[in-house]
Amino acid sequence: MSRRVTLAARPVGFPQNSDFALDEVEIEAPGPGEVLVDVLWTSVDPYQRGRMNEARSYAAPLQIGDVITALGIGEVVESNDSRFSPGELVVGQLGWQEYAVARAGTLRPVPSGLDPPTLALHAVGMTGFTAYFGLLDVGRPRPGDTVVVSAAAGAVGQIVGQLAKLAGCRAVGIAGGPEKTRDLTEVYGYDSAIDYKSDDVTAALDGEHVDVYFDNCGGAISQAVYRRLNLGARIVVCGQIAQYNAERPEPTFQPGLLIVFRARMEGFLVSDYASRFDEAARRLAHWVANGDLRWREDVTDGLANAPRAFIGMLNGENRGKALVKVARSRS
Ligand SMILES: NC(=O)c1ccc[n+]([C@@H]2O[C@H](COP(=O)([O-])OP(=O)(O)OC[C@H]3O[C@@H](n4cnc5c(N)ncnc54)[C@H](OP(=O)(O)O)[C@@H]3O)[C@@H](O)[C@H]2O)c1
Repeated sequence: MSRRVTLAARPVGFPQNSDFALDEVEIEAPGPGEVLVDVLWTSVDPYQRGRMNEARSYAAPLQIGDVITALGIGEVVESNDSRFSPGELVVGQLGWQEYAVARAGTLRPVPSGLDPPTLALHAVGMTGFTAYFGLLDVGRPRPGDTVVVSAAAGAVGQIVGQLAKLAGCRAVGIAGGPEKTRDLTEVYGYDSAIDYKSDDVTAALDGEHVDVYFDNCGGAISQAVYRRLNLGARIVVCGQIAQYNAERPEPTFQPGLLIVFRARMEGFLVSDYASRFDEAARRLAHWVANGDLRWREDVTDGLANAPRAFIGMLNGENRGKALVKVARSRS
C-alpha cells in the first residue's frame, strides 16, 4: 500500500491542516514507458500554494482529491523504460506520496556522487537552478554591482547571494529574524543583512544603490528596495511570497519608476530553462564540492507531516531548504 497526501479543500487565505487529507491506496503498476518509484524525500515549495487555487496560472490547478504536486527523490523499483533500472535514484514530480508512477521522460537521474543526494532538490536542483538562471541570465550582474535579495535565507535566496559574490558583486540580504540574518553573513557570505521583522528596511538601505534586485517576496519589502534603485537597475521578479496567501493581492509597483531609473523588470520561470539544467547542475555541483556554495536543509520527518512543513515554510519557520523525509526504513 502507498500513503499519500491529497487536497481536501481549497485554502482560503493561509492554508490549514484541514485543507489536506492522508489516505492509503494500492500501489499502481507502471505502464509502457513508465517507472515505479519508492519516494524517499519530498519537497515543500511556495509554488504549491498557487496550484491549490482554482484560477489557472502557468500550470493547471489541483482538483480536490488530487495528490499534492511536489518534486521528490526516490529509488526506482520497476522500470518499463531503458533509461532507468531498479535501484537507481531519480528526481522528478513524484508528489506527496510513498510510491509514484512517473513517465520516464519526466525524471532525471540523481548524479552519482552527489553527497547528500537531497542536493538534487535544492542547491543542485530546482531552487539552485532558479537562483542560477534568475541571477545570471535575467539579472546580468557585473563586478562591483550591488545585488539585493529578499527571502535571502531561503532555498533560492541562500544560493543567489553566493552566486552574486562569485560574480564579484556586493550582496545584501533581507530575511526575517536574528538567526536567519546571522546565517546570511556567517554562512552564505552576504556582505550585509537586514532583518525586516525588526529593522526599518528603507532606513537600513540608506546609501545603497541597488543594481540588481532579486525579488522573492514583493509587498512592503520590495517597495522599500525600489526607493534605492540605481540607474540601469535590473529587477528580477522571481517570486511574490508576501502575496500568495492574500485574498486580494496589493499592487506594489509603480511603472513610472522604470522611467526614472531606466530600469528593467523581468519575471521568469525556472522551467523555461529546462534545456540548460545540465549546465546549471554541473556548475552548481562543482561549486558545492569545492566549498564555494554553502547550503542548509530544514528536514521534517514523515510524509504525514508534509502539510505542517508546508504551512511552516509559508510562515518563515524553515531555516534553509524545507524538505520532508518520506523514507520508512532507509535514510
Ligand atoms: N520563478 C521561479 O521559477 C521560481 C522557482 C522557485 C521559487 N520561486 C519563488 O522564490 C521565492 C522563494 O522560494 P524558496 O523555495 O526559496 O522558499 P524559501 O525562501 O525557502 O521559503 C519561503 C520564505 O519566504 C519568506 N516569507 C514568507 N512570507 C513572507 C512575507 N510576507 N514577506 C517576506 N518574506 C516572506 C520566509 O522567510 P523569512 O523568514 O525571511 O520571512 C520563508 O522562509 C518564492 O517566492 C517562490 O515562489 C520562483
